[in-house]
Amino acid sequence: MNPAPIGVFDSGLGGLTVVAQILNKLPDESVVYLADTAHVPYGERPLDEIRGFALDITAFLHGLGAKMVVMACNMSSATALGPAREAFPDTPVLGVIQPGSRAAIRVAAGRPVGVLATTGTVSSRAYSTAIRAAAPEIEVYEQACPEFVPLVESGESESARAYAAARRCVEPLVKAGVRTIILGCTHYPFLSSAIAAAAGPSVRLIDPAEETALQIDNTLTELGARAPLATAPRHRFFCTGDPDGFAEIGGKFIRSRIERVERAVWGVDLGKVLA
Ligand code: DGL
Repeated sequence: MNPAPIGVFDSGLGGLTVVAQILNKLPDESVVYLADTAHVPYGERPLDEIRGFALDITAFLHGLGAKMVVMACNMSSATALGPAREAFPDTPVLGVIQPGSRAAIRVAAGRPVGVLATTGTVSSRAYSTAIRAAAPEIEVYEQACPEFVPLVESGESESARAYAAARRCVEPLVKAGVRTIILGCTHYPFLSSAIAAAAGPSVRLIDPAEETALQIDNTLTELGARAPLATAPRHRFFCTGDPDGFAEIGGKFIRSRIERVERAVWGVDLGKVLA
């Protein structure tokens, strides 16, 4: 048994899709969450830069005593998972791309799979690589959606702009014949109403956060590191940028009140090298 928190991070609100699954499926676990809002959106930044952020944030969460670190960010998972596992060999580090790919392969049953993701994740081809490695017969179509993250961060997930952007991004995938679409950025499940409306009822949306929570559960159980039952979990939330708005929008997303958001400053609290 290990009461230490699970460290989770993303560029902003998106990783709360993973936190919501942890709160729901593993209610005894504590979470320490970092939103790198000083750098959001990650989407158009070079993958090398994201790798640096992800390694520094992993070090920060490790320093706070996290018993596991979850990269609840596809770009970080695509570029920093291997280096983080090397840098922190005693701490399990999980990403969202393998779990998302696994869930999609199960649902697609050999038919083509679509991926909606940020420009960086699409350019990494991480989903195509992961799916083809396990199911070479499945065709994968990846579509970048640079408008989505700013819509979520500004609390406009249900706006007419969100519905129009979803139609633009989903249309090429539906035309290509996909019936399974991976929400390949952790922000996108917050746009699932708009994406589902654009995709129509015959398309299944895959939120990698669900399968990621299963993997968290399995990994902690295998290591004998689950939190003791019926302890009151304690959650902490950090933002690297202005924390205004995070508690309000984030609290709605996870359906739980976020009492306090702490500030973590680049160059002071984390990333002393990168600043
Ligand atoms: N939510 C992150 C991801 O899954 C990053 C989104 C962004 O900041 O562009 O890739």
